[in-house]
Amino acid sequence: MVTSSAPGKVYLFGEHAVVYGEPAVPCAIEQRASVTAERRPEGLSVHSSDLTLDGFTVEYSGDAAGRPDVDVPDTLLEAAMGYVNEAVEQARDAADAPDAGFEITIESDIPLGAGLGSSAAVAVAAIDAATRELGVELSRGELADRAYRVEHTVQDGQASRADTFCSTMGGAVRVEGEDCRTTDAPDLPFVIGYDGGAGDTGALVASVRELRESYDFAADTVAAIGDIVRSGERALAEADVAEVGRLMDFNHGLLSALGVSSRSLDAMVWAARDAGAMGAKLTGAGGGGCIVALDDTSETATALDYTPGCERSFRAELDTDGVRVESDGAGGST
Ligand code: MEV
Repeated sequence: MVTSSAPGKVYLFGEHAVVYGEPAVPCAIEQRASVTAERRPEGLSVHSSDLTLDGFTVEYSGDAAGRPDVDVPDTLLEAAMGYVNEAVEQARDAADAPDAGFEITIESDIPLGAGLGSSAAVAVAAIDAATRELGVELSRGELADRAYRVEHTVQDGQASRADTFCSTMGGAVRVEGEDCRTTDAPDLPFVIGYDGGAGDTGALVASVRELRESYDFAADTVAAIGDIVRSGERALAEADVAEVGRLMDFNHGLLSALGVSSRSLDAMVWAARDAGAMGAKLTGAGGGGCIVALDDTSETATALDYTPGCERSFRAELDTDGVRVESDGAGGST
């Protein structure tokens, strides 16, 4: 039995635009998904708990047909199951063990579909645990690539490498198309606001694609986000945190123009700014979920706690570890 964990992430800059080849800078945060993989004679059984911050339990066996009794939208649940099924397929393929059966257990403190990279973290940790359980150790590069293929399949071919590369490597990363690398970032005082909701990443990515194909302004907006990311990289290199915050504000405005913000995300962003945050923006696909703000005082967290629509706020630290093995008692035979 092997347990691996991988971190969630926030986007400092560049979500959505990264799907069209613009650069993006996500940062791993110390909120993790842990996946335990144990061999069984055949098939796949998955047990999940705590996939949102308020906690619920999902138990289902085999394929996605058995609908568990949980209070989340079907689309989200199907997506979550899809990520696990595809991750196990990747592990079987990597270990050349197409019929390997698994008992998979997921524990996560990352809210599902809330922009903190829950699906990427689950995919990365699941592939790592399942391949190790089959006696195979993948390089981080191959692990990130296989996790990307999971997202690409589940999101109907519309995914960047950003979430999965960040979750695999940890720290701050820069992704532009196929070019993925780790990068330096100063100490950033992240405060997260969570509205208790979630967005459907596949649907949101598809909506931006349609807008971009129909309106020149949307294509220009995607390119403008790319410009902001490049400016953001210079600000990060100079450790100019105030400028990083300003650019995050601009990035949020452009994401709103692309239609991926929401009333509660906007309310949290404005509450953070009014409380003196250096910058605030939605993180991830949008539609609902989380915002990330920069504030080294307690003002933003307090303001968020009093903001209608904000379910909770918390501080997040940069996670420099990336994927890691929590325990390894693998049998090793395929
Ligand atoms: C979702 O966390 C980030 C998006 O840019 C999609 C992707 O990069 O695959 C919206």
